[in-house]
Amino acid sequence: MDVALAEGYIPSIHSRILEVGAGSGRVVDYLLNHSYQSVAALERSRNVTTLQSRYADAVSDGRLRIHASDLDQFRSYEPYDVVLWLFCSITDFSSQEQCEMLHILSCNLNPGGEIIVDLPQGCTNGMDIHGQEHLIEEEGMPTYHGFVATIDEMNEYRHELSFRRLSGRPYTTFTGPERALFIFSGLVHAAEKALALV
Ligand SMILES: C[S@@+](CC[C@H](N)C(=O)[O-])C[C@H]1O[C@@H](n2cnc3c(N)ncnc32)[C@H](O)[C@@H]1O
Repeated sequence: MDVALAEGYIPSIHSRILEVGAGSGRVVDYLLNHSYQSVAALERSRNVTTLQSRYADAVSDGRLRIHASDLDQFRSYEPYDVVLWLFCSITDFSSQEQCEMLHILSCNLNPGGEIIVDLPQGCTNGMDIHGQEHLIEEEGMPTYHGFVATIDEMNEYRHELSFRRLSGRPYTTFTGPERALFIFSGLVHAAEKALALV
């Protein structure tokens, strides 16, 4: 559902697409099956080995590139047209980290490129988590904090990162929860900013 909606923002099958936190390949699978020719998957966990073996053919024919890296270390010399950060994965980070991670992604974006972020909306599990820090419990893992940004906070990121536009596309998942895709676009690049100051 989320990938099909996000697909509406991908200009062509030749667009250079980066998926952040590719996991075991749900989104990669969709993109490759829909003929996208230039997909990059960033993943820091051991899922990377699953991606490497499952998509060996797409890697060898150049349609898929797998980056085994943490997002906070990620640097690419091949800027992207579209960055997908789906499955509400951004909420695993604190507010400050979200802005830092979006900054890293914006540094890897082509002029005219866009970053698409998925976020929960309204009530989830009977609790209004909008704009609140929430605890993420994982068995055998330390408990840590995540953050669900409000629309105003998303706009603060937009301003901080020098994107001209932020648009939202609400949707309901097949299992019921309300979510929205947020699309950052119109990045003002450093050279433009410098000119504006002259
Ligand atoms: C909820 S899964 C989403 C999987 C897939 N994108 C999807 O939509 O089905 C989030 C993934 O992000 C990865 N991840 C979390 N933090 C990351 C980071 N800092 N750098 C790279 N990957 C990260 C996790 O290992 C996990 O595989």
